[in-house]
Amino acid sequence: MAVNTNDLMSTIVSLAKRRGFIFQSSEIYGGLNSCWDYGPLGVELKRNVKDAWWRAMVTNRRDVVGLDASILMHPKVWEASGHLTGFSDPMVDCKKCKERFRADHLENLDKCPKPKCGGELTEVRKFNLMFKTFMGPVEDSSATVYMRPETAQGIFVNFLNVQQSSRLKPPFGIAQIGKSFRNEITPGNFTYRTREFEQMEMEFFVPPTEDEKWYGYWRDARLQWYKDYGIKPDHLRLRDHEKDELAHYAKACVDVEYLFPFGWSELEGIANRTDYDLKQHEQFSGKGMAYFDDESKSHYHPFVVEPAAGADRATLAFLVDAYHVEGEGKDERVVLRFHPALAPVKVAVLPLVKKDGMPEMGEKIYRDLLDNSIKSFYDHTASIGRRYARQDEAGTPFCVTIDTQSLEDQTVTVRERDSREQYRVASSELVGLIQKKMRESMK
Ligand code: GLY
Repeated sequence: MAVNTNDLMSTIVSLAKRRGFIFQSSEIYGGLNSCWDYGPLGVELKRNVKDAWWRAMVTNRRDVVGLDASILMHPKVWEASGHLTGFSDPMVDCKKCKERFRADHLENLDKCPKPKCGGELTEVRKFNLMFKTFMGPVEDSSATVYMRPETAQGIFVNFLNVQQSSRLKPPFGIAQIGKSFRNEITPGNFTYRTREFEQMEMEFFVPPTEDEKWYGYWRDARLQWYKDYGIKPDHLRLRDHEKDELAHYAKACVDVEYLFPFGWSELEGIANRTDYDLKQHEQFSGKGMAYFDDESKSHYHPFVVEPAAGADRATLAFLVDAYHVEGEGKDERVVLRFHPALAPVKVAVLPLVKKDGMPEMGEKIYRDLLDNSIKSFYDHTASIGRRYARQDEAGTPFCVTIDTQSLEDQTVTVRERDSREQYRVASSELVGLIQKKMRESMK
């Protein structure tokens, strides 16, 4: 059944709440604008997205290492990085309704865009996107610190710590996953644009002559990653930034975009940051930030290629892309066709009836799956049709049912989510089968 794209986003938002993927933050107090909480299924999905990224960017590579830097950093970092002066959006306020708008999002700066208002707008002003807070008990300017607006700077200031302690030679990368904060003027579209968000960033340090080669490499690799985890290729595209939209540090940038129900939007930017950040930190800290090349016995500042992805945006894209409504009438089903590696729950164990020893056998199988670190779910309530439907809607790739025959010959029925194919296996072979299927889905 075709789904109207206008309704799709609100359908996803209500499914996310009903099934425990995503809740509004502080909902009992009326919610907090642009803040969201991941529920039991959502937290598993997002963790799986981050694990998939970490595997591709760190674990499975010989040339990238990880880092976990603190969110609060020395305020000079943000002077050096350019965020204190350059990281701002142009905004206008309506003098009548008091609403604030991004000036670059308005066609007409003469009057308030809200049809019922039409009030006069203020002059365009620059609005810094960094959240400010105070360190220690005294709230004065000497105690001002900022919530990091990007994880990247934690990597730049640790460049030599990491390079020397791990004895790395460019080209090599440092990767980090962590929260960042931006006081966006116009957050929105569910978890797409929020003021608190999680980034998955990697800074790849290369000899200055190799920046364009590596920029091309990471463009392709990062687009492919989304395809590998099941996003439909025609819902993905690369979009090069125009010169006038480049960030203050970038020589070139390309976005990986996804076709959300609200239009093509950025999932990730791959930027050529040149040697800008290392040189800025050298200037502001007075500490050398150059790499010493043992072979040529000379110092140089590596160029940096940065794939910077949003964990929340990627999670939302995987959720939206997985959503399918299939069949008609009483055969209609909602199914989240997650890649098995991303699915929040891998196996649902479903005794056909709640008697005759089936729950006991189900419990044993469930325990066995958990002991093998296979995230599973046990359910012996409602009809089997209802239980399959619940699992389809949660995106669980495998259901296992226990019936009368199971008690006689120790076999169970495996039902696959996407094909609805069913087959019997010995219960002793179930864990091995699921592990094999999971491994195969990664190829
Ligand atoms: N580090 C790039 C970004 O935060 O978008």
